[in-house]
Amino acid sequence: MSFHVQDLQAIEALIAFYAEAGIEFALDEEPHDRFAETEAEGRARAARASEAAGDNRGARAAPAGASPEPNRPPPFPQGAETADDAALAARAEARAAQSMEELRERLAAFDACGLKRTAKNLVFADGNPQARVMLVGEAPGRDEDLQGLPFVGRSGQLLDRMLATIGLDRTQVYIANIVPWRPPGNRTPTPQESAMCQPFLKRQIELCDPDILVCLGGPSAQALLGLTEGILRSRGKWFSYDTGRRTIRALATLHPAYLLRQPLQKRLAWRDLRALQKALQELPPRVD
Ligand code: URA
Repeated sequence: MSFHVQDLQAIEALIAFYAEAGIEFALDEEPHDRFAETEAEGRARAARASEAAGDNRGARAAPAGASPEPNRPPPFPQGAETADDAALAARAEARAAQSMEELRERLAAFDACGLKRTAKNLVFADGNPQARVMLVGEAPGRDEDLQGLPFVGRSGQLLDRMLATIGLDRTQVYIANIVPWRPPGNRTPTPQESAMCQPFLKRQIELCDPDILVCLGGPSAQALLGLTEGILRSRGKWFSYDTGRRTIRALATLHPAYLLRQPLQKRLAWRDLRALQKALQELPPRVD
């Protein structure tokens, strides 16, 4: 096969476009015919609509034995037909989990959040699930997706250094994210994606039962504390958070990724870290 210069330029432009859009690597060994998938989806949708309307007109059923949506998890978990059903299923799944391990398993099997389809790994948590401090970030990035652990990339390394300044390491904190799968191109998770994953995160907080919750960045503070003002206004302030077992203290602070872009703001983060350190020192000893 011979290529013309124009072909090569077009391929180069396409790859540059993919890279800008955040598509950095192929997800599968085999190529997918997305046009065929879309047509099959359309046929399946039409068949469902026709069935719901109680007639056999309009839609041609997929040939016997053919899967209407090859290589795809179902859009909602088994038994869930709509986003509302899926949200109910998320709540039921999360509530049913009696331990962190069970919660991780149930989340790994949960198919209703679209982010799961493009992520390589579930990024459930890192650190000590019995810690007195739980930190919640926004979403896994590329390194986290590859390793299946939160905060292992550049912002994670900064987070480790920040924690070390107040004498903490990952054996003394528990770390999770608002969503446990990497959004394509590291975009901010949509409100729907956050909401779909929230029952699992809330149960994770309940099972960890920390004394202090730290929200890293605006999206985390919004999702968990319901804050609507910007993070630069809400950082450094203490809030209450109801874990389901009890009400604990919660602190909003700046996200390490923001601090990498705005290093001068580290002085604000340092104030928040000192406030966290003081609050930890004031905690009564834990009675287990
Ligand atoms: N940023 C986050 O919010 N979470 C991670 O796990 C990594 C980067």
